[in-house]
Amino acid sequence: MTNVHILGIESSCDETAAAVVRSGEQMLSNVVFSQIATHQAYGGVVPELASREHLRAIVPVVRKALADAGQTYQSIDALAVTQGPGLAGALLVGISYAKALAYALEKPLIAVNHLEGHSHAVLLEERQKGNHALEFPLLALVVSGGHTHLYLAEQKEAGWSYQNVGHTRDDAAGEAFDKVAKLVGLGYPGGPVIDRLAPHGDAKAVKFSTPQLKHPDRNARRGTGNLTIPQRTRKIGAPSDVAPGEDRPTFDFSYSGIKTAVLRYVETHDMRAAVEERRRALAEIAKPGLEDYLRLCDPQTLNLVASFQRAMVNDLIEKTLAAAREFDVATLFVTGGVAANNELRTSFEGAAAEAGLPVFFPSRPLSTDNAAMIAAAAYPKFVARDFAAMDFSAEASFALPRR
Ligand code: KG4
Ligand code: ZN
Repeated sequence: MTNVHILGIESSCDETAAAVVRSGEQMLSNVVFSQIATHQAYGGVVPELASREHLRAIVPVVRKALADAGQTYQSIDALAVTQGPGLAGALLVGISYAKALAYALEKPLIAVNHLEGHSHAVLLEERQKGNHALEFPLLALVVSGGHTHLYLAEQKEAGWSYQNVGHTRDDAAGEAFDKVAKLVGLGYPGGPVIDRLAPHGDAKAVKFSTPQLKHPDRNARRGTGNLTIPQRTRKIGAPSDVAPGEDRPTFDFSYSGIKTAVLRYVETHDMRAAVEERRRALAEIAKPGLEDYLRLCDPQTLNLVASFQRAMVNDLIEKTLAAAREFDVATLFVTGGVAANNELRTSFEGAAAEAGLPVFFPSRPLSTDNAAMIAAAAYPKFVARDFAAMDFSAEASFALPRR
C-alpha cells in the first residue's frame, strides 16, 4: 500500500510529540516539544506537571506536524497514538486527544506500544535510506530512561512477534545515568551531560562492577528438569511478556548497585561540598554549555563519570552480545534515549563487527522519544486493519505482542 499518511502522537513521558509518516518509511514531519525545562528544577519528571504540559502543548504540536508535512486533518489516512507503557496521566492526554480527533474526522485510530515504536525508529530510517533487507531473527536492545529491555523479534505474517529475553531488575540504564548525574551535581537529564563529559576523564580511574545475574532456568533448559523462570520483582512499566515456564533463558540487567557505588565514592572521597557548589553554580546558568560543565568539574569528577559510563556501556554490550549468541540472531537494533550515547554507539559498532553482526541505531533525534516512530509502527497495523476500539485506555505497563 503506498501513500498512506499516518499522524502519530506520543505523550508517554516528558515529550509532547507529533509526526506524519508516509507508508512507514518516509518521515514528512517530526515535532517534539520537550518539557525538560519544566522538570529540571525537580531533578526528574513530575508526573502531574507532565500531564499539564502535554495538555498545553498537544494542539500546537499536532498542528505544526501537519503543517510541516504539507498535510491537513482531512488529508491524513489514520491516526496513531502511544497506548503505553508510560505515565498513565501523560498517556491519557495523547489518547484522549487522538480519540477525539479520530472520531470527529471519521478516521481510523491505531494504538501503538511505545517500545515497539522505539524499534520502528530504526526500521523507518533504514527504509528511508533504501535498506529494505533485514535479516531475522533480530535482537533489539531498547535502552531508555524507563526501560532496559532485550527483545527477540521474528517476522510473522501478522507482523513482528516479540519475546522479552531480558530486562532490568531494578533501575533502567537511562535512570542510572540521570541519578548519577544528580549525585555529582550535574542536573537533569544526566545522560547527555555525562556523554559529553566522559571523554574528558579517565575511564580506568574508578573500578565499577555490574552484577552478572544468574539464570536458574538456563540449567533447567539445557537439562530435562522443570522449566521455570524465577519470580522477579517487576517495576510498573516492565513488560510481563515472559511467561513462566517459557523455554528461554533471560539476560537481565541491574543498575541500582552501580548508582549506590557512585554515591559511596562521592561520600568516601569527601566530594559532597564540591557537588553542592557545582549544583548551585549550574542552577544559575540558564543554558550551561560544555565549557561551563568543564570549568565546574574537577578531574576526580570527570574520572568518576567516565568510569561510570564505561562500566554501563560494557555491561549493555556484553549482555546484548551474550543474548545474540544464545539466540543466534542475524541483526542487532539498539534504540531508546541511551542509544544516543556516543561511547555506546562506537563501542557497540566495534563489538558487533567483531561478532560478525550488523548493528543499527536510529539517528540521535529519533533515539529519544518522538512520534515518527509511533506513526511508523502503526503502518503494518493499518495494512492489517488492526484498528483500536474507541474504548481502549492507557496501559502504564504494557507488554509487546507475542503472535
Ligand atoms: O527514550 P527516552 O527519550 O525516554 C524514555 O522512554 O525513557 O530516553 C530518555 C533517557 C534519559 O534517561 C536520558 O538521560 C537518556 O535517555 N539519554 C542518554 C543520552 N541522551 C538521552 N543517556 C546517555 N547518553 C546520551 N547521549
Ligand atoms: Zn522512550
